[in-house]
Amino acid sequence: MQPNLALLKKNALAEIVSAASQAELEKIKVRYLGRKGELTAILRSLKDLAEEERRQTGKDANIVKNELLTVIDEKLKELAVSRNTYTLDLTLPGRKRFIGTKHPLTLVVERITEIFIGLGFEEILGPEIESEWYNFEALNIPEAHPSRGEMFGPFYLSDGWLLRSHTSPVQIRVMEKTKSPIRVIAPGRVYRRDAFDASHSPVFHQVEGLYVDKGVSFANLKGVLEKFCQEMFGADIKTQLTPSYFPFTEPSAELSISCTNCAGEGCRVCKQTGWLEILGCGMVHPQVLRNVGYNPDEVTGYAFGMGIERIAMIKYKIDDIRHFFTNDLRFLRQFREI
Ligand code: PHE
Repeated sequence: MQPNLALLKKNALAEIVSAASQAELEKIKVRYLGRKGELTAILRSLKDLAEEERRQTGKDANIVKNELLTVIDEKLKELAVSRNTYTLDLTLPGRKRFIGTKHPLTLVVERITEIFIGLGFEEILGPEIESEWYNFEALNIPEAHPSRGEMFGPFYLSDGWLLRSHTSPVQIRVMEKTKSPIRVIAPGRVYRRDAFDASHSPVFHQVEGLYVDKGVSFANLKGVLEKFCQEMFGADIKTQLTPSYFPFTEPSAELSISCTNCAGEGCRVCKQTGWLEILGCGMVHPQVLRNVGYNPDEVTGYAFGMGIERIAMIKYKIDDIRHFFTNDLRFLRQFREI
């Protein structure tokens, strides 16, 4: 065999054997056997050789070519197999397991409930599908009342049923069934025909509070709400009641707390007022008491209702209500305990 052919064979075989990938092997094949490959060049130059030498070299070159093709083929198979072989890498770090967390709204409802239970309230639940009687009429909101559309824009179902637009119907349900004294809180989901934007959601949560007994006064209401705010937002929080209107309470008020972002200085969060409004409340309207068979000359009561999302947004400094409902784990994993 010609010395240059023998050398070529030796080099080519060594390269093929140590090829680490199919791509590398492909390159080797092109270098030796491709159109401009080294072995191809030898075959092409045969025509310049003398008769005898041409025949011998031609024969040898073809043998080498076939041999290389066979070895390349074998090596290809070998690489394909080893690529599929499972290798255990003991240096890989372990996979992190995430422990589930409670939803921030759950944490806030649980905290609110806990505070009111500490103040002598009992937790009850009411249905999310209501009749107009419970959602409106019994609460002194007659059919033509503007607040039915404006304040509470309900989702109607068939046959006079609707998705409750506030938790206040639970007041009626509990008073209907129980004699006073009654001291309850009722958390739950409520529904309104509202936009889904940074500060509204068509589904949200409220906590209703109701206390009815002989001699319950507005001062009692004020005291309980102040205590609640201190427990929820810290002992330094200031509260303020301002007159408001709800058909089912008289007088009605809104409770605000000093802005937790600027401590009352005035900022973007409190719209420069220094106050954040957190709930509606008032003395149970005498007509509501009559509607459930109570005598307003004998008993009085107070009621309040707060939006849980609102409390959670203030508590956790969240600026968009939609975060609670889009289930982004990066958001949800931030909340552990209050
Ligand atoms: N139900 C009222 C609302 O949804 C809140 C409220 C509850 C007001 C109880 C007064 C008394 O806005």
